[in-house]
Amino acid sequence: MHATPTPATAPNHDPLRQNGRPVLNDPNGDFARHYNRQSFCFEHGLKGNPLFELDSLVELSKRLPAHPDFAYWSNGRVSINDPWEKGMAERYSLQDTIRGIADNNSIVIMKHTEQDPVIGPVLQEILSKFVEYSGAQMRDDVIVGESLILVSSPNRITPYHFDAELNYLVQVTGDKTFHVFDHTKAQQVTDEELEGYFSGAPSAARYGEAKQAHATVYDLKAGQGIHIPVTAPHWVQNGDNISVALSINYELKSVAQRAKSYWLNHRLRKLGINPSSPGRSAMLDGMKAASATSLQGLRGLLKPAPPPPTWQVWTPR
Ligand SMILES: [Fe+2]
Repeated sequence: MHATPTPATAPNHDPLRQNGRPVLNDPNGDFARHYNRQSFCFEHGLKGNPLFELDSLVELSKRLPAHPDFAYWSNGRVSINDPWEKGMAERYSLQDTIRGIADNNSIVIMKHTEQDPVIGPVLQEILSKFVEYSGAQMRDDVIVGESLILVSSPNRITPYHFDAELNYLVQVTGDKTFHVFDHTKAQQVTDEELEGYFSGAPSAARYGEAKQAHATVYDLKAGQGIHIPVTAPHWVQNGDNISVALSINYELKSVAQRAKSYWLNHRLRKLGINPSSPGRSAMLDGMKAASATSLQGLRGLLKPAPPPPTWQVWTPR
């Protein structure tokens, strides 16, 4: 039987202040100016917060529902172009992976942590802060937000990939070299990669030496964070120390719409057609989205998917 967890927030304690300073601040308006346009580095005050010490994270992992949507972990060496499945076939338990993270060359991603009774209240406040700083352009587009906690070994690589979610990577412990690529440049992320990704291939992004010259490289320290626009490719090399980071993610309405065009284009390309990229014609994008919705609905009737598990989600106020 588990003891009742203690919430992180006590009366009269502001979870967004640490040592009297705000955990997040935006004196220059960077969040609104760069929102989903380009990566940038920001400062935060979560460094050294005991909620993110390894013992606390082991306890957090025990509180997560025993469902694969709540935790991903991978053991052993990976390289830049490896898929997410690498290192999952035979692996330590989730708790043993976190306890041994100093030596087992692993990464752990704990998901939906904003719903946790202990750490969740702080993470929900942070989810709200990024929206507040970015303004209506973000608030009006967000469907749901989620906080992931990433724990990874010294010198571990996170393979090259991009995500469908808008992201703020908040480095709490350790340092890393973070390589980000421009999501608006076709040389750095191609339509074929995006079409594959939005058709169900999460490792569709392909790294190449020629791309590396275009990377923006951040020497990220604990106490700093990076904004990563939707589908901006990135890969990470940890420093010689344990890394703990938050990945604050948001699903956007605009991306869900664009994903339908990529999904349809993937099928058109397989038929030998060279489809136009989304974003060139609002009318064409609308027609493609409607066609994709119809086709996906038809596929769902022919081959019903199991209902997704349900849990509480965070949405902007
Ligand atoms: Fe990512």
